[in-house]
Amino acid sequence: MANIQWFPGHMQKARREVAERIKQVDIVLEVVDARVPESSRNPMLLEMLQQKPRISILNKADLADPKRTKLWLDEYANGEQSALAIDAQHARQLQQIPQMAERMLAEKLDRKRAKGIRNPHVRAMCIGIPNVGKSTILNRLVRKNIAVTGNRPGVTKNQQWLKTSGNLELLDTPGILWPKFDDQIIGKRLALTGAIADSVFTDDEVALWGLEYFQANYPERLVKHYHLTDEELVMAPSDLMIRLTEKFTYGTEYDRAANRFINDVRKGELGRYTLEVPGDKVSE
Ligand code: G4P
Repeated sequence: MANIQWFPGHMQKARREVAERIKQVDIVLEVVDARVPESSRNPMLLEMLQQKPRISILNKADLADPKRTKLWLDEYANGEQSALAIDAQHARQLQQIPQMAERMLAEKLDRKRAKGIRNPHVRAMCIGIPNVGKSTILNRLVRKNIAVTGNRPGVTKNQQWLKTSGNLELLDTPGILWPKFDDQIIGKRLALTGAIADSVFTDDEVALWGLEYFQANYPERLVKHYHLTDEELVMAPSDLMIRLTEKFTYGTEYDRAANRFINDVRKGELGRYTLEVPGDKVSE
């Protein structure tokens, strides 16, 4: 694994800015990738929240294993955490967000109504690591293509509130957290889905980890897509990678085969998958 330089000064600044913005909202919409719901969350957000209500949005549920998404939602519900699984590409699914926010803030809204405020609004912000779909959610909820995209940590200074179809108002710029992958397994899960830059691990490292994971968790997908025999299916991942390189007729270009496997996984050629289940260990 490459040595990751975190620029602690920048991180502190981003953290301060995000913490500042959080104070201005009634509820935080924490966006994670449903294929890696725990690994794609930055645990520091919990510290920053300071009792602020939060909805965890497991986005890209269309790419995730539906059985495992259910496991995650059950796990969160048992811990009394509000969570939703959505595909942000579908407007109807997105409507669950304002509905859940209003339910969670019902008492606060009732108090405002009792004070004579006819249509009290709910202020919220989207927050999460890059590429989980924050801008997509924001853009689609406000129905105008005005959200800022980009991977800068923190949020910009001149914020505005954007109205959605209901009472929800969203901060115009999502809060960006850095992925926390000082842990090898978390890093590889994020790398296989494409959530972190390809320069952090070599393709070989990611592909061998991914092959082993699919051998253990989704063997039938490997059989179907790469026409593996029973014998090939139980090979050591490095031997299987050599076998795949032969099957792809790539000679001895193992890295090219590794790259193809990674792209197949990312494009969903091997079906919908989730790379962690509740209770999984986090370190190798
Ligand atoms: P961000 O603000 O959190 O950084 O993420 P952003 O909305 O830019 O979304 C990142 C990519 O993920 C976009 O693809 C977007 O279309 C896709 N995406 C967002 N939500 C969903 C979802 O629920 N399901 C699926 N399948 N895709 C989703 P992109 O612009 O094409 O970029 P790329 O991923 O091809 O690089």
